[in-house]
Amino acid sequence: MAERGPPHVVAVCGSLREDSHTRKGLEEVLAGAEASGATRELLDLREYDLPPLVPGREVEDAEAFTGAVREADAVVLGTPMYHGSYSGVLKNAIDYCGFDEFEDTTVGLFCVAGGAFPITALEHLRSVCRALDAWVLPYQAAVPRSRSAFDDEGITDEKLRERVRTLGERVVRYARIEPDPHCFEAEQNVGATSDD
Ligand SMILES: Cc1cc2nc3c(=O)[nH]c(=O)nc-3n(C[C@H](O)[C@H](O)[C@H](O)COP(=O)(O)O)c2cc1C
Repeated sequence: MAERGPPHVVAVCGSLREDSHTRKGLEEVLAGAEASGATRELLDLREYDLPPLVPGREVEDAEAFTGAVREADAVVLGTPMYHGSYSGVLKNAIDYCGFDEFEDTTVGLFCVAGGAFPITALEHLRSVCRALDAWVLPYQAAVPRSRSAFDDEGITDEKLRERVRTLGERVVRYARIEPDPHCFEAEQNVGATSDD
């Protein structure tokens, strides 16, 4: 059997804000992944020119982004809570992807919210991942009340920081899990194959 290196974990940040809490939180997730032996990369969507997707239209940066996602053994999707869901920026980036990037890929979910209830964004992302036949960890992490949750070093509350780092550890543990049978949502996802 070919020898495989350490699992590679890629995090996608769904906020373009300069001082993004989502980005800071993902750094903690990736620190947890690295401590578990993984290599790591943060995909900052400010560095890719991904206009709103027009299917069939060539976009220069698309391959750089989707290629980086394809390289991953596990992907962490990080989003700010926007109006009870995840960000449009993240959805647009996911729309550039399909089964080639996500099928049978381990995915961890992370959310940051201004308020106290950061759960719906995670649920919505979970549904999207099912349509792409990703393997989404039951364990998920979120940071509520983001304005007071971070300082320059990261997440201030030790328990919360541990919970977020644990997400990184868990995606590494399950990075190379056996694929599950494909789910019904994915069978009906006629847009996700690269030949469409
Ligand atoms: C357009 C918009 C919608 C938002 N909607 C919600 C919301 O529904 N619930 C919530 O708790 N916070 C909401 N927030 C607050 C953000 O989740 C919060 O400021 C978060 O830290 C932003 O993440 P970022 O720092 O990574 O950009 C919203 C912020 C924006 C800009």
